[in-house]
Amino acid sequence: MIIQKTSASRIDTFDKDNFSFGTTFTDHMVVCEYEDGKWGDVRVMPYGPFPFTPAMMGVNYGQACFEGMKAYKDKDGDVFLFRPEKNFERINKSAKRLAMPEVTEEMFLKGLETLMDIDREWIPQGDGFSLYIRPLIFATEEALKARKSEKYMFAIIATPAKAYYTAPVSVLISDFYSRAANGGVGSAKAAGNYAGAFYPTDLANEQGYEQIIWTDDATHSYFEESGTMNVFVRVGDTIYTPPTSERILDGVTRDSFIQLAKKRGIEVVVDKVPVDFVINAHKEGTLKEIWGVGTAVVTSQFEAIGYHGEKLMLPVLSEEESYAASLKNELVGIQSNLLEDPFGWRVLVGEGVAEKA
Ligand code: COI
Repeated sequence: MIIQKTSASRIDTFDKDNFSFGTTFTDHMVVCEYEDGKWGDVRVMPYGPFPFTPAMMGVNYGQACFEGMKAYKDKDGDVFLFRPEKNFERINKSAKRLAMPEVTEEMFLKGLETLMDIDREWIPQGDGFSLYIRPLIFATEEALKARKSEKYMFAIIATPAKAYYTAPVSVLISDFYSRAANGGVGSAKAAGNYAGAFYPTDLANEQGYEQIIWTDDATHSYFEESGTMNVFVRVGDTIYTPPTSERILDGVTRDSFIQLAKKRGIEVVVDKVPVDFVINAHKEGTLKEIWGVGTAVVTSQFEAIGYHGEKLMLPVLSEEESYAASLKNELVGIQSNLLEDPFGWRVLVGEGVAEKA
C-alpha cells in the first residue's frame, strides 16, 4: 500500500456543529486502478478530483456500484467499524453482477482501516455522530463501445455524519413504478438503481409523499423496499419483512434489526408481505408501525401510507412502544460502543480489520 499524506489538512475548517452530510470529505481517500486485467497498487492519497472525459464508460453505461458503511468513535477515542466484512462481500457480489472485477481484501478492508486511522480526527465523537464511508467501483475506460469496460477505479471516500432528528414521513405504495425486476440488478448496489428511483420519487413528492414503498414489478401486490432502504412492518407484536432476493438488497442494517429483534424474543416473519395484508391490518387496527432501515439514517419511521388515492394514518407510538425506535437505539448503542456487543459486530480499527473479518 502506498501512503501519501496531505501536507494541507482541512481538519481546522471542519465544524462539528455545522456541516452538511455528504458534501464535506475527509483529508484522504483510498484509490486503486484496474488495467490490463489486474488491480494496481492500493494508494491512500489526499482527497481530490480526477480528470475524466465524457467518454468514460462508467457515465455512459452506468457500470458502477457502491457501498455504504459507517465508523464510530467512542468516548475514549477508539474507532470502530460495523460488520465491514458484509460490505466487502456485497461489493464483490455487485461487481460480479455488473461484470466488473472483484476487489481484494487489501484494497477494501486494509484500505478502509488505513483510511480510518489516517483520518481518525475527522470522525466526530459524541451522541449520534459517525463517519459515513463510501467505497465504490466505476468503469473508467474512454470508449463508447457498449461492452464491459477494460479499466476501472476503486475508491473509498468518507464524509462526517450526524443523526438528525427525522420526523416520521409519508410514503406512497407504488402501483406502477418498480425499483427492480426479476433477473435484474435489484440485489446489487448498482448506481443506476438509485438513478431509476429519482423520477418516481419526484412524482410521489408532488403528491405529498416523501418516499415510495416499492412493490414487486410483476403484480405490485407485495412490499419490497422503501426509498433507498429495506422495509419492516409491525402488525400486532410481530415484525414482517420480505426475504432478500434478486430484487431486494441484502441490507446490513436489515440483517442486524432481524437479529436484534429475535434476541429480544420478538417474532420476526421473513416472508412475502402482501399489500392487502397491510391494508387489512390497518382497517382492523392491528397495523402498528412501518419503517425503513439503511446504513445512512439507520431508521426512517412512517406516519402515513398512500394507496390507491387514500392516505392511511399510522398510530403514533412513544419511543418505548415503538420497535423501530427502540431497536434503532440498541443498534446505534452497539455500533458506537455504548452497549455490549453480543454478536461480535464491532471491529476496532488498529486491531487488523482484515484479519478479524
Ligand atoms: C443507505 O442507507 O446507506 C443508503 O443506501 C442510502 C444512501 C444512498 C445515502
